[in-house]
Parts: sequence; structure tokens; C-alpha cells
Amino acid sequence: MITPPAPIVPPLLPGGTGPLGHAPLLLADPVRLLAAALAVPGPAVAVRLPGPAYLLRDPRDLRHILADPVAFPRAGMVPQNRPVFGAGVMLREGAGHRAARALLLPAFHGEALAAMTRTIATRAEALAADWAARAARGDGRVALSRAMAELALTIAAEIFLGLDLAGDAPRLGRAVRQLQLLMFKRATAAELAPSGAATPEDAAYRAAIATMHETIAGAIARRRAAWPAGRSGGGADALDLLLAARDERGATLRPDRLRDELATLILAGHETTATALTWSLLLLADNAPARERLVAEARSAPAVDGPGLLRALPWAEACFLETLRLYPPVYVIQRRPRRDAVLPSGVAVGRGVGLLLAPYLAGRDPATFADATGFLPGRWLPDATPVPASTASFAPFGSGPHRCLGEGLARLEGALILAALARAVRIVPDEPARAVALVTLLPAGPVRATLHPA
Ligand code: HEM
Repeated sequence: MITPPAPIVPPLLPGGTGPLGHAPLLLADPVRLLAAALAVPGPAVAVRLPGPAYLLRDPRDLRHILADPVAFPRAGMVPQNRPVFGAGVMLREGAGHRAARALLLPAFHGEALAAMTRTIATRAEALAADWAARAARGDGRVALSRAMAELALTIAAEIFLGLDLAGDAPRLGRAVRQLQLLMFKRATAAELAPSGAATPEDAAYRAAIATMHETIAGAIARRRAAWPAGRSGGGADALDLLLAARDERGATLRPDRLRDELATLILAGHETTATALTWSLLLLADNAPARERLVAEARSAPAVDGPGLLRALPWAEACFLETLRLYPPVYVIQRRPRRDAVLPSGVAVGRGVGLLLAPYLAGRDPATFADATGFLPGRWLPDATPVPASTASFAPFGSGPHRCLGEGLARLEGALILAALARAVRIVPDEPARAVALVTLLPAGPVRATLHPA
């Protein structure tokens, strides 16, 4: 009889001896903590945050855990975020979750996707033209992080709500930005010092949610009112589709459910993309050959309308994916085992321990990616040898039933925006970026840069 190997007990990461364990380092300098974890061989490393947690990097473990939300639920995240995401897809499980995904999927395909592509291309070209004009005038100082956040939120508000953020919805922009910061602060406070006591920021949090809800409800009401009499919906864009959608029982969505789904799409769908875009611009500024190839591709891409455009920009998409490998915006995905388990890598996890599935570590593991620290977009091209890289190997979009609904949209958005900006300007950052962890892993500060003519 073959005796199975003894389960692996992950070694404790050095440091973290204070009362809050490794948490202060994770917040102050996540990349240093992640780099220290990467230096420890093996599929997992233990940390204290301050409760016991494992940072996991083996792609098999990531997929195994994410495939089974019953054995590995999302624990604290769900009640904590209920005021923001309500009954939306993000916080559902089981049959209700499957039904919600089925309901939202058409909003990411067919005519709705074509409408999104046009909006993204128009907004990207407008920013590129503005930047080109500024570069030509010698007035090219920009804050990359802010510019990408504004662009991604403008696009999300337009494609999901039909709203012009600059024109009729500036309050939505302010509320969403404030909400993101407060969600992070509250999650951190709950993790480090769970008290349940009211904080001075509670009122600001509630006000930001109320503003977001009001704006979304207003957009829904305006769209409904604009439908010709007798029309029961159509396939024009995501909002039209959701207004006409039927739930599990065949009924159209109640206004508050519709509002929650739209709030989820707005919140999940822009900061991640904006962060990835900022990192992409920084990495491309540092990698002349990759940038020159992007410029050449962007200039020769045929003027295709619709989703076919992405097929004309393989290098742009490869640059975006390579950025996600090195700087995945969702750098850890949290789960908690309901009972003791042994993962496919052999790591033993006890009931209730925090599991931090780390796309950041998986993406930089030399066991999976040759020249793991280099920026080599070519590994993503369909004809790459030995085989093209796969997002399944590091899960930047998650995996399993909760896998990102907007992956296709994000990849499209990333490629179109990188191509439009590369055609228009050359970006020179003031200084190398330092990563900080808020909700996503993002470069610290506004990331100032100067634009030069392309
Ligand atoms: C580069 C950009 C993006 C990244 C890195 C990203 C990453 C992720 C990850 C890791 C998850 C899974 C979280 C978990 O399992 O706990 C997720 C879920 C989700 N994402 Fe994205 N995302 C991106 C863009 C988008 C966009 C553009 C949308 C569009 C609306 C979107 C909508 C969602 C939704 C609705 C979910 C929840 C799915 C569910 O629970 O079934 N994401 N995303």
C-alpha cells in the first residue's frame, strides 16, 4: 500500500511579531510582504493578520478553492458589503447566484457588447486627442492614476447607466470614489480591531451609498420614461437589457434589485480596470521595444467597428495581460474553509483559517512563468512557444462560479485604451511607482507624468 505524503504545514513568514502581526506591513508595503512570501519556497506561507492566514500561490489550489464556494465561503466579506452591493450578483450564492449571472450575461454579449465597444473607443479616442494636443502645446503634465480612474468610471457610467459623468452625473463620480476609500477603511478596521462601534465615517459612508443609489434610480427612471409607449425593452445596451430581463420566477426585476445589480457592475467594473491601465502605462514607459511594437500595431490596426476590433490588437491585449500578471489589481482573493481540508498541493488548511489566494504570487512563480519578473507580453500571443500563457495559471479574474463577469469587457477596454494612447502620445513618468494596497494593488499617489508627441 502506498502511504500518502504527509500534509504540508506552511512555514510562518518572518516578522509580524507585534500585536497586529503582519497586517501593518501588508497595508504599508504590500509588495515587500508579497516579495518576502515569494522568496519562501513551497506552495504556501503562513502570516498573522493578526488572525492566522495562509498566502497561497499554487494555481491548482487557487482553482480548487474557488471552484467550491460551499466548502470555501467568502465569510466576512458578504455581511460587510451588504449595504453597498445589496442583492446584486456579487454577494449571492448557490441557485440565486447562478440565476443572477444568467440574467447579467447577455449584457456582456451581442449588441450590448458592440455598444460598449463603441463607447470605449469614443472615450479613449477623446482622451488621446486631448493628450496629443497638450503634448503638442508643451502642456503635457498629467496624473496618470487619476486620469485612468476618471476614464474607467466615465465609461462604466455610460455603458451601464447611459449617464455622462462630466455632464449629468458628477455626484456619482464623487460618491463612488469616496465609497471605495471608505469600504477599504471599514474592511481593514473590521479585520484589525473588530468592535462594531460606530465610527465618524459611518455618516459619510451612508451618504455616499445614498447618492449612488439615487443616481442609479434616476437613470433607471429616465430610461424607462424614454421607452416608446408599449415597448417592453430591447437589446440596445446593458441598461435596456436589464430593464427587460426576467428573474428566476419570470418577473421583471424589482427596482431595488435592478439598482443593486447596476451598482455592483459600476463598482466592480472600473477601479480594477483603471488600476491595471495605470500599471500598463508605467510598464510600457519602461519597456521601449514592447511600446514600439504597440505603437506600430495601433497605427496599422484596421478601423473595425465593434468587438472585432480586439482581434486587430493582439499585442495591446498581450501587454494588458502581462501587466495583470505582474500587478494583478485583485492581488489576493479571500476565502475561509468551512472544515479542515488538504489542498491539491498537499497544504493542510484548518477550519476557519484565512485563505489569501494570491494571483500576485502565482503570476510571479518561476515554476509557472519563465523569466517571471520580466515584462514579456509575447508569452500571451496565440503563437507563443511552447504554449501561450493562460490566466488559469494565476487567476487575475478569479476562477469557478464567481469568476469575473467583466473579464472580456476589461480585456477589450484595456487593449483599446492602450492602443489609442500609444498612437497619440509618449508618456514619461516622473519617477518609478511604488505599490500600495487599497481595495486593489495600485501605484501610490497620483502618478505624475509628462506627455510628449508620439
Ligand atoms: C482588470 C480588470 C478586472 C479584474 C482584475 C477583475 C477581477 C475580478 C476577480 C478576481 C473577481 C472574483 C472575486 C472573487 O471570487 O471573490 C471578480 C469578480 C467580478 N467582477 Fe471583475 N475584474 C475586472 C474587471 C471587471 C469589469 C470591467 C467588470 C464589469 C462590470 C467586472 C465585474 C465583476 C463582477 C460582477 C464580479 C462578481 C462575479 C460573481 O460574484 O459571480 N469586473 N473580478
